[in-house]
Amino acid sequence: MFPGSEIYGGLANSWDYGPLGVELKNNIKAAWWKKFVLQRDDMVGLDAALIMNPKVWENSGHLENFSDPLVECKKCHHRFREDQLQEKKCPDCGGELLPAKQFNLMLKTFLGPVEDENAVVYLRPETAQAIFVDFKNVLQTSRKKLPFGIAQIGKAFRNEITPGNFIFRTREFEQMEIEYFVKPEDWQKAFEMWRQEMWSWMTDILGLKKENIFENDIAPGELAHYSKKTIDFEYKYPFGQKELYGMAYRTDFDLKRHYSEPPYEDADTKEKIYPHVIEPSLGVDRSFLAVLLDAYSEDGDRIILKLKPGLAPYKVAVSCIKKNDEKLVGKAKEIYQNLKKDFPSDFDNRGNIGKFYYSQDEIGTPYCVTVDFQTLEDNTVTIRHRDTASQERVQIEDLKNNISLR
Ligand code: GAP
Repeated sequence: MFPGSEIYGGLANSWDYGPLGVELKNNIKAAWWKKFVLQRDDMVGLDAALIMNPKVWENSGHLENFSDPLVECKKCHHRFREDQLQEKKCPDCGGELLPAKQFNLMLKTFLGPVEDENAVVYLRPETAQAIFVDFKNVLQTSRKKLPFGIAQIGKAFRNEITPGNFIFRTREFEQMEIEYFVKPEDWQKAFEMWRQEMWSWMTDILGLKKENIFENDIAPGELAHYSKKTIDFEYKYPFGQKELYGMAYRTDFDLKRHYSEPPYEDADTKEKIYPHVIEPSLGVDRSFLAVLLDAYSEDGDRIILKLKPGLAPYKVAVSCIKKNDEKLVGKAKEIYQNLKKDFPSDFDNRGNIGKFYYSQDEIGTPYCVTVDFQTLEDNTVTIRHRDTASQERVQIEDLKNNISLR
């Protein structure tokens, strides 16, 4: 990852995903979509416009409530989130703090050529609202029955007072959100089902170690304006145990705010109701951060990124033992081109197998394939496994069968 706008001195806490970063990030999003949309019968997807009618934010309560308490130091004029301060004095200069003001976190812009009040719009602070606003359209086109959910991945923006800790808190980030609609009496069952699904996502798919994850039942006084119950899944980052994901019981708060009539009719009883909602809400960037931290390991002078093979930017890398031998290089390239048809692959032509292995270990490539003189005689290659550094000799035609992405 690179600091955003780096050659211009950067822009506070903006980060760019580089060539390998974008692959890992895309793989995280694809794994989430697969697990929670493609592999389930009770889920459908959505990709809605990011800028919405401002009435959405009025009715959702974000214009009124989506704010943090902001305090300013009388002396140095630095600004802080009051709820994150340990002391009543400025942490930068010890000066006195002015009384807190509520600071709305939504980023504003203007739509169209006239920059007046009527043209004000907001960059969405969560992807969730579009799911509520499109609820009836999705219902009519998908013909789903309760319980069912709608999933969306996309950017969200918040004018955070104190961004920081690398990509932990930024002003522009990505979310993967599910709104799961249930009959009101079924919310607890659904909440428990999604709690289990979150654990399965974090441990089976992302490969995070159980001992690094904690559940935090949010106290009633600290709940978001729409929530009756929230569990935060916290991760043990090097800078402390903090939120990774949130999961909320949003009741029928949002649908009631957007629809004057109940938007769902029970097919059997013909009763019209406002479904209740369970919302597992995940940050893509925080997932990326937790995956990197959890996968990082050292073995002597070897750095190994023990990524789940499904998440690794490259699944396999190919090299040969001599960089100037035309036959060897040609064979290695041929194998690489063939593997690339099925797996994201890398080719290393430096002719230094030790460095080849070390560099692929460091970026988490689960398999390395090496071509040597024996290959030219019997069509076998060495396949090496990242985590154990163990090697075996296999026929080229069997290579693909030896690559497991589980
Ligand atoms: N729709 C509910 C919602 O947005 P949230 O707890 O405010 O709930 C959900 O956000 C998730 O989005 C968080 O658990 C975190 O993973 C991610 N997130 C929120 N604010 C973020 C920020 N400023 N930078 C990076 N990720 C953020």
